[in-house]
Amino acid sequence: MSDVNTVSSSEDPDAIEGEPAALDVARLQQTLTGSRIGAQVHYFREIGSTNSHARELAEAGAAEGTVVIAESQSQGRGRLGRRWESPAFSNLYLSILLRPKLAPAHAAQITLMAAVALADAVEAYIPGQVAIKWPNDILVGNKKLAGILTEASCDSECLRYVILGVGINVNYSRQAMPPEIRRRATSLLEVTGKPIDRETFLRRLLQGIERCYGELENAGFAALAQRWQSYFAWRGRRVRVELLDQVTIGTAQGIDRDGALLLLDDSGVERRILAGDVIPLEN
Ligand code: BTN
Repeated sequence: MSDVNTVSSSEDPDAIEGEPAALDVARLQQTLTGSRIGAQVHYFREIGSTNSHARELAEAGAAEGTVVIAESQSQGRGRLGRRWESPAFSNLYLSILLRPKLAPAHAAQITLMAAVALADAVEAYIPGQVAIKWPNDILVGNKKLAGILTEASCDSECLRYVILGVGINVNYSRQAMPPEIRRRATSLLEVTGKPIDRETFLRRLLQGIERCYGELENAGFAALAQRWQSYFAWRGRRVRVELLDQVTIGTAQGIDRDGALLLLDDSGVERRILAGDVIPLEN
């Protein structure tokens, strides 16, 4: 593992054919317009998991907005204990340290805020094709393009910090994907048919998170929740929610202010679902 925070690359940002280019983090930082997200960036060619490293930095007192970026992860983690495929130089893997003034019960608002920023960033490349699958998958054509893993540390009354981990399939070719994810994953390369400049995407995403996080702090969750709902994939559809050995079936209504999925079950009772995998059923 090597922290190359101070190394700057001279590679051309548009040179995305042939050998994959490393991200130029110094240039990225210079061109970020926000004051918080990305003020400190820790960049690695390879790491276990950016979330784990961000957690160590958080425990050591790192500032809010610190970003950990890696070109590849040997132990990239997804939700529900799954593995996150993290091949080198083709995608984006990053974690952002936030110290929100929120009650632990509202921690999911951070995930939903990030899903909106992520959907907006993807939307800029493929307008009208992006959907959010509750709670935080970014889908295009029903296939997963990006995911969010939020890990929080709390004391009894408040959140100490939140690690917002984001993985985006950018230039991940179908052939390079392991067979087990090929059927359900996609990438910007696969959808647009052309390689995407990762640095430009990353800049857009970090600026979007800076803006959406500010909105959450200043205006609360309501406006963001509306934007989240506008991207929500299966509103009004019958879905099955699976969590371990528990299955709930009903019609997806949307989310509440804690980010819980609201499901109208077959006996007409509205249920709040806090975790699980949502699978659409035929209508
Ligand atoms: C999911 O959809 O299951 C969440 C995937 C989150 C993956 C990202 S990649 C960067 C960060 N570090 C990790 O180990 N996981 C997250």
